[in-house]
Amino acid sequence: MSLADTVKDHFTAEFGEPPAFIVRAPGRVNLIGEHTDYNDGFVMPLAIDRATWIALRPRADNKVDVISIDMDDRREFALDDLPQPADADWIDYVIGVAWSLLERGYELRGWEGVVGGDVPIGSGLSSSAALELATARAFYCASGFDWDAAAMALACQAAENNWLGVNCGIMDQMISAAGVADRALLIDCRSLECATAPLPVGTAVVILDTGTRRGLVDSEYNQRRAQCEAAARHFGIAALRDIDLPTFLKREHELGPLIRKRASHVISENGRTLRAREAMNAGDAALLGQLMIESHVSLRDDFEVSSPALDAIVDCANAEAGCYGARMTGAGFGGCAVALVRANAADAFVERVSAQYQAATGNKPALYVTRASRGAETVAGTGLSTDFATEDTEET
Ligand code: GLA
Repeated sequence: MSLADTVKDHFTAEFGEPPAFIVRAPGRVNLIGEHTDYNDGFVMPLAIDRATWIALRPRADNKVDVISIDMDDRREFALDDLPQPADADWIDYVIGVAWSLLERGYELRGWEGVVGGDVPIGSGLSSSAALELATARAFYCASGFDWDAAAMALACQAAENNWLGVNCGIMDQMISAAGVADRALLIDCRSLECATAPLPVGTAVVILDTGTRRGLVDSEYNQRRAQCEAAARHFGIAALRDIDLPTFLKREHELGPLIRKRASHVISENGRTLRAREAMNAGDAALLGQLMIESHVSLRDDFEVSSPALDAIVDCANAEAGCYGARMTGAGFGGCAVALVRANAADAFVERVSAQYQAATGNKPALYVTRASRGAETVAGTGLSTDFATEDTEET
């Protein structure tokens, strides 16, 4: 059964009639451009074919009543009395998005719904951004405000930063909001302008989950951000986006060794990401793969956010003849890698890399071919929110 049917049937069983809307928002995998988003730089993610789904109907009052299939839990809150977050509970993401939208002046109505999804939680594929954007979309359906992908991404990022206390950049929310089917998206994380980039013909994108998670990721992430900011301050620029590689190479000796390595990664990664876009527009899989390999080396040696498991799975992947290139993806320290492989070699790749990685590390990986999907959307409804708003106006 599809997830759309799962949340719909669950809704109907719980609330006694079919939902008024079904929405979805995807997770993501980043092809290249890692730890660049909070430096106002460039990223090249794609929205994956795994998503968070919500079946819902608007309520007449200001209550939000949500059932999570995956958490086997049901929670209710009032929009004029938002409960403070407790230990990043799943409902805190829903409440955080409500808080952020209210802060930004959106007029929200209550809704009741059922949420379910297939983005693995905590594996680095942005299940939290998927839940946030699906929640924003649910509020949009219930309340009938204008949907602007960048505004919604910013609101969801603010929920994560200021409500949940997680210091992330804009990449995950932006791609979950603005993803395009069969395309990666080059996102300028300063202007939030997006340009689609085609995946080279005859290639497949494979996600390689190492099966490892690392708890320290938040503190390490914050430390990397601070180091990047220190480098930018030294050069008197707003962000590392604002210095090009030749200028940096002339002045890098001014920095201490650690900050120099961190800055070197970010600046070279921005360059690689822009070259990746050219490679993709030219259909050059070999060049794109090479840039991904270089990105991993830079993340491993200069930014130091890889892990033995990530290095092992990337090495196994790169050793395969059908692989153009593989690298860690997301924040690092565990979680997933991503590989660009020849489409007709993908099945063999998955099988061989799984076996070799497991033999080398003892960890059980999960590898799967993914497809680029659309960003947050309403997939079914008694009408889009504008229709709903019209009905509403007529009634009152
Ligand atoms: C996490 C953050 C993103 C980004 C990546 C690293 O996924 O949520 O904003 O910084 O790490 O590229």
